[in-house]
Amino acid sequence: MNIELNHINCFYGSHQALCDISFCYPLGETIVLLGPSGAGKSSLLKVFNLLEVPSSGSMKIANLDFQFTTKPTEEKVKQLRTNVGMVFQNYNLWPHLTVLENLIEAPCQVLKMPKEQAVDKAHKILLRLQLDTMSNRYPLHLSGGQQQRVAIARALMMEPQILLFDEPTAALDPEITSQVAEIINELSATGITQIIVTHEVDFAKKVASQVIYLEKGKIIEQGDASCFEQPKSPQLQMYLSH
Ligand SMILES: Nc1ncnc2c1ncn2[C@@H]1O[C@H](COP(=O)(O)OP(=O)(O)OP(=O)(O)O)[C@@H](O)[C@H]1O
Ligand SMILES: [Mg+2]
Repeated sequence: MNIELNHINCFYGSHQALCDISFCYPLGETIVLLGPSGAGKSSLLKVFNLLEVPSSGSMKIANLDFQFTTKPTEEKVKQLRTNVGMVFQNYNLWPHLTVLENLIEAPCQVLKMPKEQAVDKAHKILLRLQLDTMSNRYPLHLSGGQQQRVAIARALMMEPQILLFDEPTAALDPEITSQVAEIINELSATGITQIIVTHEVDFAKKVASQVIYLEKGKIIEQGDASCFEQPKSPQLQMYLSH
């Protein structure tokens, strides 16, 4: 099963944020989206869970098939989002809920998982991300790196096939950035597909199996991790040399 986009166009009013985006990747890849500010990276990332709905084109993802000539049904979008998780840039944790409560909220509410089962699962995931001592803390009482790991843990509770990250290391220092890279590589080894927007080339090099380089809403270059060493387009060469 692949992730496939065909001729995706996305507009904000009259501004075209994504122009004729097409690609196809098998599951299990870690795909990094690179490009200058305003290139359309976040817009493209949001297409995968339909936080942005394209105005035309089609998408095959998580055993679902979307043709954007018609508006997708709520039911289908809900189904998509249980399979495609997102870790937001500002983490989007609920401040009034503890770490544990943040984790069990969606499985209990959306998947109707019994609370005991959700709590058990949350503890396993927190242990895996070395957060087991933090389960009763509130997000504001955690460091940025810890909040980022809680956001990843929360997304993992839904057992997504595909996990989206927007600038996962934006506010983090180099050591914590390396930890996030390690987590992403560990997740990758479990077979999960990850799509990651980042500005940080060194971080991208640590995690990417595939690279998509965008400018002004268009794909300028795509390829495997070898394009860090041998970029083909002058634009990616220039970007990497900064
Ligand atoms: N909600 C919106 N309404 C109007 N225009 C938007 C909206 N979101 C994004 N845009 C515009 O679409 C273009 C692509 O934005 P996007 O956020 O996808 O870029 P980006 O590559 O993620 O940039 P950055 O690296 O700065 O986060 C930009 O020109 C931006 O101003
Ligand atoms: Mg962005």
